[in-house]
Amino acid sequence: MNWNTRVTELLGCKYPIIQGAFDGFGTSAIAAPVSEAGGCGIITAGALRSPERLREDIRRAREMTDKPFAVNITMIHHVMGIAPQLLDVVIQERVPVLFTAAYKAEHLGMRAKEAGLKWVHKVATSKHALAAERQGADAVVLVGLEGAGFKSPIQLPTLVGITTLAKTIKVPLIAAGGIGDARGFLGALAMGAEGIYLGTRFMATRECPITERAKQMIVDGSPLDPKFRDHALLPPKAEALERVYAQRGSQITGEWLTTLEKVMLGDIGEGSGDGLSDTEIVGGALPSLAIGVIDGVPTCKQLIDGIIGEAEELLLRSGPLARILADSR
Ligand SMILES: Cc1cc2nc3c(=O)[nH]c(=O)nc-3n(C[C@H](O)[C@H](O)[C@H](O)COP(=O)(O)O)c2cc1C
Repeated sequence: MNWNTRVTELLGCKYPIIQGAFDGFGTSAIAAPVSEAGGCGIITAGALRSPERLREDIRRAREMTDKPFAVNITMIHHVMGIAPQLLDVVIQERVPVLFTAAYKAEHLGMRAKEAGLKWVHKVATSKHALAAERQGADAVVLVGLEGAGFKSPIQLPTLVGITTLAKTIKVPLIAAGGIGDARGFLGALAMGAEGIYLGTRFMATRECPITERAKQMIVDGSPLDPKFRDHALLPPKAEALERVYAQRGSQITGEWLTTLEKVMLGDIGEGSGDGLSDTEIVGGALPSLAIGVIDGVPTCKQLIDGIIGEAEELLLRSGPLARILADSR
């Protein structure tokens, strides 16, 4: 089957499957094998901590694959100050696509576009997706409530968020949040997305540079466990964010951003006391409800081939759509 969409054309990959950004460990170790397997791997600039190390890692990825990959710059406290220099490296090293996320990233996107790169921005709400489109983003990723990472008080679950945004947005839409298998992949395409973006699912792959114990926690984790369920489904309250916004200007930017990020991440605190070490699982962001569909630790190639193979099987032979098609012939 041909899985071309506007997203595969934009990113230059075979399948519309993108690996999420990961502060702390999103290096070439995971990005290169994802791209090599036909998806779009992303190096997270924040994980490299300096422009020099980002340059080295981009070059390392090029030694591992000749397929295109992208770089993500997430505007968080430890990245903001060096973001222009990180972008210089991305442009100089001729990485074809810049992904951005978080607070006020549009100037990076615009500069990337002026330099001839494509720009994809990731958001948690339709409002921000449409704003990114107006600012010139070539595509947007919308993360539903089920997903990991920064949360918004007005974030919707993936099904409703993607389905409604797909009706208004014109640039290609990429779905994220709780997706981890072929059924989620097909569901996202049916909702109107032209690609999927997987964070938690790619963490439980052989190549992902987190501990085996952390991977096993993802495999064993249940979406019914309140630790995961409540964290995902209870976004921060609007009043909590307003309180933080009111402090902008009276605090130095770095300090203020740290507080903002804590609120948007649902502040899981240091050590949850139930066998889930936050630092081990990766510095603050818990895995998402995608844990419900993760049952092993394959290689990136096995994972991507598995999603595509099962999606084709579901469409052509064994799923409800295949039955509807067969019955209507
Ligand atoms: C440990 C961890 C670290 C993350 N770090 C970043 C980051 O630095 N930048 C970013 O844009 N998203 C980050 N994310 C969010 C993912 O890129 C992605 O949007 C999210 O995991 C999608 O939801 P899913 O896990 O249900 O697939 C992180 C997620 C996790 C679990």
